[in-house]
Amino acid sequence: MRISVLGTGYVGLVTGAALAHLGNQVVCHDIDRERIDLLRAGRLPFYEPHLDEVVQPARRRGNLIFVSGEFALLNEADVIFICVGTPSLPGGKGIDLRFVRAAATQIGEILEPGRRRVVVNKSTVPLGSRCWVETLVKEVLHRRGRRREMELATVSNPEFLREGSAVYDVFFPDRIVIGTEDEWAVETLHELYRPIIERSFTPPASLAAAPSGQFSPVPFLWVSPAGAELIKYAANAFLATKISFINEIANICEVLGADVREVATGLGLDRRIGPEFLAAGVGWGGSCFGKDLNGLMADARAYGYEPALLRAVFDLNYRQRMVVVKKLQNLLKTLRGMVIAVYGLSFKPQTDDLRDAPSLDVIKKLVSLGALVRVFDPVATGAFRRLCPDPEVKVCHDPDELVEGADGLVIVTEWPQVKELDWERVANRMRRKIIVDGRNVLAGGGLEQYGFAYQGVGIPVRPG
Ligand code: UGA
Repeated sequence: MRISVLGTGYVGLVTGAALAHLGNQVVCHDIDRERIDLLRAGRLPFYEPHLDEVVQPARRRGNLIFVSGEFALLNEADVIFICVGTPSLPGGKGIDLRFVRAAATQIGEILEPGRRRVVVNKSTVPLGSRCWVETLVKEVLHRRGRRREMELATVSNPEFLREGSAVYDVFFPDRIVIGTEDEWAVETLHELYRPIIERSFTPPASLAAAPSGQFSPVPFLWVSPAGAELIKYAANAFLATKISFINEIANICEVLGADVREVATGLGLDRRIGPEFLAAGVGWGGSCFGKDLNGLMADARAYGYEPALLRAVFDLNYRQRMVVVKKLQNLLKTLRGMVIAVYGLSFKPQTDDLRDAPSLDVIKKLVSLGALVRVFDPVATGAFRRLCPDPEVKVCHDPDELVEGADGLVIVTEWPQVKELDWERVANRMRRKIIVDGRNVLAGGGLEQYGFAYQGVGIPVRPG
């Protein structure tokens, strides 16, 4: 099929590249010309494992092209995906839909009658936005006198990609959700996604094998537009709730003397609960959970419902970020003048994304307490320098520089490299051998043999 994708962020670029890999003719649009120039030059605007191996072959074959401002090409498409950003408005006052509005208007300005088109909204949006997009497009078409002849369906098709494994998730989704009233649009999208649904495509070579049960088709769920929009919000809210829940249990474990890892294992073996998203620590971050919880809460409140549980999930998460600072204060007492090394900046491993990263709040608090903060991250130091040019914070080039003369080391992101560190070497370089592990990645790793005082989250401290 001929596909147009508006927006080349995580969702747009990964979706566009995957659809090109499946043999479709894909045009990716972005209003950011620099980003498009970068993509045309064969480079990616962000770090995402495996994406390059999907983008570059398709680009060279010529079925994945990048354009800026050439909106006339929208008219060639059978399916147009809206994948633009939907940031939070300041002060948690809902979602900024300016980019979705611009995309819908552009579509209405360009489309000419002649064949059926499906407009798919993949951006995460407040409830009712699919209808809002449809109305916007149709209003512009009406103004141009094209509305009557146009065969157009608008669909909500939320994405469930995780940063860091977005390419895997797009090829091997747990489900595909389509929200529309138009059956022909459902048929068109079923046809577009058929290789993924039937798992009949050849995946990019470097991607891990398909999940077990790979021969069963991917569930394809046709629901109402409101249902599809709420499935997206509810999925993220539930995942955030699961993490905040285990963090609350971890905090209770600390006061009662139990180990949250044992509790999580026992909980996760109940199939109704499941083992994933039960890793306690400094809490969730990233561009989605906070924004989507805020969006859902704003929608609920606008219709007179106070979302008490979601509010608690949200508050607990931001409080949780401070647990590592409190542990340092307990161990080192006054932090003023102490050298604190922070390992991990990105909101999770395998990405350089710093949006709503717990590290930012931890660093800010440490600086405010007068600590001399040093930071290191395997991929996100460049992004961090651009975001926080604070001279109080020293950005280090390697783990050796990070820990040299440090009074405490805090792990904020569970990069696998952390486990590989040479702990004898680290112990020899630090001034005080204190590790506070905000992700419990080093628990049980025998750090005590190098003389470290180690504290995780929700793990009892052995009486020394
Ligand atoms: C999340 C969802 O997992 C995706 O399904 C969804 O499509 C995406 O948001 C989105 O709406 O775009 P993502 O934000 O990329 O994906 O990251 P996750 O892997 O969900 O992790 C989010 C945060 O939770 C990270 O900070 C991670 O460290 C934290 N986390 C995760 C925990 O603290 N404990 C866990 O057990 C799991």
